[in-house]
Amino acid sequence: MDEFTQALDATIAALDQMERATDRPLRASRGALDRLCHLPPLASDKAQRLEPLRQRVSVCLQCPHLASARTQTVFGVGNPNAELMFIGEAPGADEDRQGEPFVGRAGQLLTKIIAAMGFSRDEVYIANVLKCRPDMPAGEPGNRKPTPDEMETCLPYLTEQIEIIGPKVLVALGATAVEGLLKIREPMGKLRGRWHAYRETPLMITFHPSYLLRNQSNTEKRKVWEDMLLVLERLERSITEKQRNYFR
Ligand code: URA
Repeated sequence: MDEFTQALDATIAALDQMERATDRPLRASRGALDRLCHLPPLASDKAQRLEPLRQRVSVCLQCPHLASARTQTVFGVGNPNAELMFIGEAPGADEDRQGEPFVGRAGQLLTKIIAAMGFSRDEVYIANVLKCRPDMPAGEPGNRKPTPDEMETCLPYLTEQIEIIGPKVLVALGATAVEGLLKIREPMGKLRGRWHAYRETPLMITFHPSYLLRNQSNTEKRKVWEDMLLVLERLERSITEKQRNYFR
């Protein structure tokens, strides 16, 4: 439970107690009611709590080799109140340039998966274990996987992000993200399709979208889709017959 909900519960319990202790209804001044009516909406509470974290990440120098090579850090994007949060491994060249996770080819596929689930990209939250692009030798194209050390150094930022957002379900994309989160290395075939947990939040593991770009058969697409159907069931979202049958 987040701090705001705890404070709200405690306030309601105290008001309840006060009401039971007197036979007259509780009264509040016009000024107090006015202030309550003008509180910022709850949604911006999490956005406000993410902001100082975003700022700390943006000036992070804990991995000097990454800090000196990056264009910018890539914090995360989406709804701070999301029920569903996707976690990838690290920004690539496109993400480093644009400052947003999953905007390259793999990202476009992820956006399609999210849409097929019935969400828009800004209804969910998307972040990576690593907030910097793993550096590449000068002039070399492509991206490299983050190292276990780099992921361990950066993980506390993601953990704080998850704690603030408090999603109902996490989805880890690919074995490297799983290694960063759970410190386990196992074949995807053993990890996907069943529930795990990250600090008590249910965690579904599935293939990284770049795997699907390399393996475009319906059999592999169906595996990812079956994992997403489990996620939708866990979120108690209604699933159409058409959705159930994708890639069959
Ligand atoms: N792959 C990832 O794991 N994360 C991104 O942001 C982009 C590609």
